[in-house]
Amino acid sequence: MKDTLETLQTNTLAAIRSATTAAELEEIRIRVLGRKGELTGILRGLGGLAPEERAAVGKISNEIKADIETALGAKKTDLDGAAIGAMLAEEWIDVSLAGPASSKRPERGHLHPISQIQYEIEDIFTSMGFEILDGPEVETEYNNFEALNIPDHHPARDMQDTFWTEDGNLLRTHTSAIQVRGMATHRPPFRVIGPGRVFRYESTDASHENTFYQIEGMMVDRNISVANLIYFMKILLKEIFRREVTIRLRPGYFPFVEPGFELDIHCLICGGDGCSVCKQSGWVELLPCGLVHPNVLRYGNIDPAEWSGFAFGLGLNRLVMMRYGINDIRHFLSGDLRFLYQF
Ligand code: DAH
Repeated sequence: MKDTLETLQTNTLAAIRSATTAAELEEIRIRVLGRKGELTGILRGLGGLAPEERAAVGKISNEIKADIETALGAKKTDLDGAAIGAMLAEEWIDVSLAGPASSKRPERGHLHPISQIQYEIEDIFTSMGFEILDGPEVETEYNNFEALNIPDHHPARDMQDTFWTEDGNLLRTHTSAIQVRGMATHRPPFRVIGPGRVFRYESTDASHENTFYQIEGMMVDRNISVANLIYFMKILLKEIFRREVTIRLRPGYFPFVEPGFELDIHCLICGGDGCSVCKQSGWVELLPCGLVHPNVLRYGNIDPAEWSGFAFGLGLNRLVMMRYGINDIRHFLSGDLRFLYQF
């Protein structure tokens, strides 16, 4: 019996030594130490032996079992280490290499050029104490016309062709409606601007769109004069174009201001010599504005004897076109990525 045990031990240890994979080791373990394994069988048979023999064989068997288990464990550690070494040798990556081709990188979008200029202008005005207001694109006739001193049947309504909804509201034709909302929620003195999308029922061409963007501005305080208006407009233009611009005021008619002006800038494309952008005049019409009409203040429950103000309505499309030399307003809403990628 002792010989059998020793042969089993020698053979098993040799098999363990020559095993090359963890799976082989496991096979050996099961064959010798498993439930139906060779050594297990011998240990189980101990009961049939004489007591003194049983003790001796039991002792040796347990020593051999411990021996084999140790050898299995050691070999397992060896094989695992070798496997990791092989993996490290084969599967390394060079983290200093460039990533996948740039075409595989997710493309990042960016702000539309109109949003860019809108946010810039918002920054300029908030730095001067103006608050940014919002208003709905579907407006009441009262906010868009009536409270701006444009009564029903007034010919000035013809200046702005309008989309009407079936319930008698309309798509706002200008951000001036935000002035009305501002006066309803603010008591003077106040300074507000209101950016937004506006709509006109118009056929389109290179300089006309049915949907475009404006920023409205309104300041109400004591003794506001044209000098205040010019001061703020010049700062605005200087910040936008990042240089001193020459301006001129011409009379302009808008029912909600008196006096009303068209503020022109010296053409930045040709420097005033005359070109296609300024239609050879040297001047570009950019910024309608004026002193708030007393009737508009009254509609807003503001006493024109005590308070006065200026207002302006800046077209953002035109401004972006001037800045980048864009020759057709229809590009903005075309959705053409070749256009948008340029900004
Ligand atoms: N709302 C006018 C338009 O869209 C622009 C305008 C003119 C706004 C004069 C003003 C202003 O605030 O004072 O044609």
